Amino acid sequence: MKKERWRTIITHYCGMGAPQDQQMLIALLRDLQEAEGGVLSQAALDFVAQECAVKTAVLHALIRRVPGLRSESAKHTLEICGNCPAGMKLRAFIEKRYGVKSGAVSAAGFVYRVTPCMKNCKNGPSVRWDGRLHSRADETLIRELIDGTKKAK
Ligand code: FES
Repeated sequence: MKKERWRTIITHYCGMGAPQDQQMLIALLRDLQEAEGGVLSQAALDFVAQECAVKTAVLHALIRRVPGLRSESAKHTLEICGNCPAGMKLRAFIEKRYGVKSGAVSAAGFVYRVTPCMKNCKNGPSVRWDGRLHSRADETLIRELIDGTKKAK
């Protein structure tokens, strides 16, 4: 049943140019994620890879790069402004504590990205957790977000 739903989505987007058209492949993953309840399971990704003849590594690379896509191994996204002068120490803290570099997935289960200015300069350091902007971020906030002790409103 689940695979029939997946196949319907895949067939739709393959008819529109996926996987060669990367925008259509991303749209396919977004629809599949929604059908999966918000997170792309490894089984769903394996199915897409098989049906579309693409490597799962390509799909995981898209998930790391495209905001809003989530896999079982990276259910969250942490973005930090790379331009906030006060953010340099916080970036070093994140990268050391969670063993992650920009563009990679932390073992703690989030995609980490250093981004350009978030247009929140007066309130920096600026971070986004699953797309939600947080001002004046510090180590306590980062621990709360990643360790799940603070729920996003
Ligand atoms: S420089 Fe960081 S939000 Fe603008």
